Amino acid sequence: MTPLKLTSWLRSRLFPLVLSTAVVVAVSAPCAFYLRQRLDRVEALRADASRVADVLRAEIEARPRLWRYGTGKLSERLSEEGLGRVSVRVLDGDGFAVPLEAGPLPPNAWALWGRAEVSTAGRPAATVWAAADQRPLLGTAFHLFLAFALLAALLGTVLYVMPVRAMAGAERRIELLLSRLALALQQEERRRIARELHDGVGQAITAARLELLAASARAALPPGSAETIGRRLDEALDEVRRSTAMLAPPALAELGLARALERHCTSFGGSAGLNVQCDVEAELPMMDADVEGACYRIVQEALSNAVRHGHATCASVSLKRAGTGAVALDISDDGSGLKDPVGRGQGLEGIRERAKLLGGEVLIESPPGAGVRVRVTLPAQPGEVRA
Ligand SMILES: Nc1ncnc2c1ncn2[C@@H]1O[C@H](COP(=O)(O)OP(=O)(O)OP(=O)(O)O)[C@@H](O)[C@H]1O
Ligand SMILES: [Mg+2]
Repeated sequence: MTPLKLTSWLRSRLFPLVLSTAVVVAVSAPCAFYLRQRLDRVEALRADASRVADVLRAEIEARPRLWRYGTGKLSERLSEEGLGRVSVRVLDGDGFAVPLEAGPLPPNAWALWGRAEVSTAGRPAATVWAAADQRPLLGTAFHLFLAFALLAALLGTVLYVMPVRAMAGAERRIELLLSRLALALQQEERRRIARELHDGVGQAITAARLELLAASARAALPPGSAETIGRRLDEALDEVRRSTAMLAPPALAELGLARALERHCTSFGGSAGLNVQCDVEAELPMMDADVEGACYRIVQEALSNAVRHGHATCASVSLKRAGTGAVALDISDDGSGLKDPVGRGQGLEGIRERAKLLGGEVLIESPPGAGVRVRVTLPAQPGEVRA
């Protein structure tokens, strides 16, 4: 059966979605924090620059030409106003920097700036820039990012793993149901073919046999030919019966698995010259009809192989409970064992296929000089075990 691949389909669609959600969660809050704080700090720097500008305006008005030189007094006044620690850059009206003793300026790449203009008599006299280092702010934003990245990773794992797990479980169940449906359809088809063979070809041969009897009673046939034709018709009828029995074993429905297996071991062993010991545990778990059918078919195939390929003289069949809700089927023979390379046929492949469809396992062993051992474990109620 072609795999449904629903889980891999979901994975391929869910992964980019979850990844982009995780990235948004990890990045958005730290970015918003950083931008908000940056705006607040630039606003505060503008206020500082404007307070420095007020002090500077008074100084310019007091010493219109000389304020640029000897700025010690200006620095003193700034300290008095509580602005001594503000990092300030002052440019005069011509754009030249005015030396001022103030807090150290941060490196340009990491600085935030707030600006204020100083005008006297309606003309621009100087520009004041107040600066602050934004590295502490960036550090806080980075720590926030780490915390949110961790949160995003956890969230992403939950968002990804939970649906994928649920889908994998559902997919297993769907595959199991489909394979059981295929098995049921296959068996129904086999039963139909068996009915057709029995009711069509079988009845025709039986009618021909009766015609033959009538003809020979009327002495309408040459001597001897009635016996020959009769033998051929009997052989054909046997062949039809064998085929219908293979397609839909009546013994299974009539006798139940344990007795059907015992009967098959006895009848097949008797006709093929194989001494078969059949051991079916009395307390087997309640088994699904498909599982019983599979057990019967597997035993048929393994015993037939033992005779056809291994030329075995003895074989044993055992069916036992294996753990909770499972059965173990074990068929071994004393034949020549598997040859290397193993021949290609439908039988062993069919055993593996049946077990797989029911969620079971197969182990085929052939230790040197010890024939072949086929071990199959099957869930008694496949739907329940795999659910
Ligand atoms: N019990 C056995 N003893 C020895 N050889 C075996 C035994 N069972 C299987 N083999 C080997 O494994 C091969 C594959 O077996 P398998 O049942 O798949 O095919 P087959 O019996 O040859 O054909 P088919 O079952 O389709 O009629 C066989 O050809 C045979 O060589
Ligand atoms: Mg075979």
